[in-house]
Amino acid sequence: MRIDIISVVPNLLESPFSASILKRAIDKGLVEIHLHNLRDYTSNSYKQVDDYQFGGGAGMVLMIEPIDKCISQLKSEREYDEIIYMTPDGEQMKQGLVNTLSLKKNLIILCGHYKGVDERVREQFITKEISIGDYVLSGGELGAAVLCDSIIRLIPGVLGNETSALTDSFQDQLLAPPIYTRPAEYKGWKVPEVLTSGNFTKIEDWRDEQSYQRTKTRRPDLLDEE
Ligand code: ADE
Repeated sequence: MRIDIISVVPNLLESPFSASILKRAIDKGLVEIHLHNLRDYTSNSYKQVDDYQFGGGAGMVLMIEPIDKCISQLKSEREYDEIIYMTPDGEQMKQGLVNTLSLKKNLIILCGHYKGVDERVREQFITKEISIGDYVLSGGELGAAVLCDSIIRLIPGVLGNETSALTDSFQDQLLAPPIYTRPAEYKGWKVPEVLTSGNFTKIEDWRDEQSYQRTKTRRPDLLDEE
């Protein structure tokens, strides 16, 4: 998979990809991340990427020209499955959407900044708009990092144990069950006995029940979704 990320502050996106699972995925060649600084696509000597809103109002708006130049250049080099815009008024990111995106080959992610982008960018270039939650960030970069992390960990070979992504919370619309590790007893606090019983059928039944109960108390809305 290849992900091209367009931003006015691409250095905000350097550290998420420079450690742990995401770095390993890149080092193994399972994903390529290409960061593009929008200022490199300006035609004016001030490298201006934003301007005032028509009609007045506070806040600057990212201009269409540098975004057009950047996206058009990328599209001339390869085909993209989706051109995503990170925005608080987009579709709320859920595991199902992440699963779908993890199967794609080439993605572009455009990060908004300041007030956002000229609406014509959304109309002309964007195929999917994604929000990471009902709150406003100062730009789309952190949202893009969240989106990339959730996608990349699903690519086969990225996680050590292939099955571990399947038991995440939200796969199957259920929260994950509680987990424990050694020691089996700490300061008198014990791990549930069933987990050390060696009876894998019972362990699976216990986990399923815990998942269900946890979902019912914490996120009953998930049980209502089909
Ligand atoms: N940019 C600003 N706020 C955002 C959000 N909640 N999700 C995605 N991109 C954003």
